[in-house]
Amino acid sequence: MMDNDSRIRALKKALSRPLYQHSLSVARYAAELGKKGGWDPEQAYQAGLFHDWAKEWSHKKLRQYVRKNKVRLPDLPFVLKNAPDLLHAYAGAFDLKKQGWVTNRVTLAAIAHHTLGSPGMSLPEKILYVADIASPDRQFKGAQDIRRLAKKNLNAGFLSAVALKISYVVCQGKLLHPMTLTLWNEAVLSLQGRL
Ligand SMILES: [Fe+2]
Ligand SMILES: [Fe+2]
Repeated sequence: MMDNDSRIRALKKALSRPLYQHSLSVARYAAELGKKGGWDPEQAYQAGLFHDWAKEWSHKKLRQYVRKNKVRLPDLPFVLKNAPDLLHAYAGAFDLKKQGWVTNRVTLAAIAHHTLGSPGMSLPEKILYVADIASPDRQFKGAQDIRRLAKKNLNAGFLSAVALKISYVVCQGKLLHPMTLTLWNEAVLSLQGRL
């Protein structure tokens, strides 16, 4: 198995420069949120660094990879047909595990769920979800608001992150993944302390 420095060098080589910069920004922010919220900052950093491992794979490659390796994800036919971009999180986690680059189950789950979310999101999953959408390299207003909220309360930042993603999909006239309603309802209940 490759040592840590070799893996990071390989990652840097494989990703485009902007995506590598984004990954570094997510890693740093995830570590910061982890330190505050109770997720090992080193694991959070690793999750951020590798979360978009498969982001630049073509839709064709993603579809083939998921079929060949029988990668499981909710409502797969819907995703294949309507939102193939969502595959990169699951395919990435699967491939990182397969290559032995990331072995920690919590980190792998956070990577797999960083775009779509998942019912019953754990703290590390929420941290990576928030860190991805609101890392400091994202300068738009919505990201700044999420950072401000997450600083005080991770669940508030998470709810705002889910809302931003939903509004983005809705404003573009695209279909929402069937699980998104569950994600939203759970985010509301978490913030209210009822979950
Ligand atoms: Fe991603
Ligand atoms: Fe990302």
